[in-house]
Amino acid sequence: MDSGGKVIEEIEGGAGPLRGEIIPPSDKSISHRAAILGGIATGETLVEDFLLSDDTISTLNAMRMMGVSALMDSKGLLIKGVGLRGLTEPPDVIDAGNSGTTARLLTGLLSAQSFFSALTGDAYLRKRPMHRVVEPLRAMGADIRGRENGARLPLAVIGSELHGIEYSPPQASAQVKTALLIAGLYAEGETVIIETLPTRDHTERMLRYLGVEVLKQGGGIGLRGGASLKGGVISVPADISSAAYFIVAALINPGSEILIKKVGLNPLRTGVIDILREMGGDIDIVEKGERSGEPVGDIVVRSSSLTGVEIGGAIIPRSIDELPVVAVAACYAEGTTVIRDAAELRVKETDRVRAMAAELEKMGASIEEREDGMVIGGKERLTGARCSSRGDHRVAMALAVAGTGASGVTEIEGAGSVSVSFPDFFAVLRNLR
Ligand code: S3P
Repeated sequence: MDSGGKVIEEIEGGAGPLRGEIIPPSDKSISHRAAILGGIATGETLVEDFLLSDDTISTLNAMRMMGVSALMDSKGLLIKGVGLRGLTEPPDVIDAGNSGTTARLLTGLLSAQSFFSALTGDAYLRKRPMHRVVEPLRAMGADIRGRENGARLPLAVIGSELHGIEYSPPQASAQVKTALLIAGLYAEGETVIIETLPTRDHTERMLRYLGVEVLKQGGGIGLRGGASLKGGVISVPADISSAAYFIVAALINPGSEILIKKVGLNPLRTGVIDILREMGGDIDIVEKGERSGEPVGDIVVRSSSLTGVEIGGAIIPRSIDELPVVAVAACYAEGTTVIRDAAELRVKETDRVRAMAAELEKMGASIEEREDGMVIGGKERLTGARCSSRGDHRVAMALAVAGTGASGVTEIEGAGSVSVSFPDFFAVLRNLR
């Protein structure tokens, strides 16, 4: 998978307001978890509205390689769970493609099996840090080898008997937490993760939904090994990370009003709404409900005059994937926006601080890079330019949103990378105008 290839998309700036309603693609984080946890549950799991995108297909294929049957029909994805101990040795190297979530969550799962496995990914993923999961998994007894002593893919995993540990990840990471919780399902004793800042809790919610006791005491999230997961119906909400592009596009294009339906509103994912409201964004949540233990709702967005803000601290893990498009909103705001405490942006699919600063500058924005974020000068008149996604789906979509409010045409190279999370992004954007 080359994450974007040579596809170029053109966005016409100032082409009028956005109007209408959309249901964004299903949540990527929840879909990964449903594929893995459904696969090791007992009995069948029906995943309604499973996201079919490159990343989640990587996870699904990995589970299939280990003997899990998963078939898509009109009702959803039907997974035949093999139980905690039912996975079988994959006959080939597992390819996580561009997906960090696949690679990290599976490293936790593979560590605890009674077989050998090997895991790799595309050129972008092979550069990303794996020691954040490898180190604590080794402390649980895992036997993992790999490049740079296991810091980079490819990894070879010799499945082992694990024991629970108490661990506090040095960085706020739901992937690390999840890898350890999955490994903890197989470990002797209790596995406890102590988070400095809370990260998305989809794993905890789904484990509970499938019948596993997940304890939350003080700052710790814990479970005991050996609990079995019971298959059921998991209904996946729409992804707030995908909705975010349309929220910002509607805010910055005068006269816009859109309705975004069935969006997952897990409080550990809604940082982007809090930030954009603080900037002056007119965003209403209507029709609130719940789907398989996750809050959902419809979002109404109307174009607004935005003001720069300071963003840092606990809101960062609650908005981490949306910060590229928040940077775009900041370009169209009055006054300066400062993003700090966001060094994690530098180890995403690409270095998203560098990518957003350099690509938006091509459109006339003034952005100062900081080690842990950026300072964005507001109220710039952006001009359409030829930009690159740098192989990163979120950079591609954020630049497209920037292009909607710019003068002239914005060309985005490597636009095909959107297939990682939102395959028909450009068609949906065009339909709203
Ligand atoms: C994810 C966690 C976050 C996020 C990523 C998906 C997950 O990564 O950026 O897109 O599904 O657990 P980190 O765990 O690295 O923060």
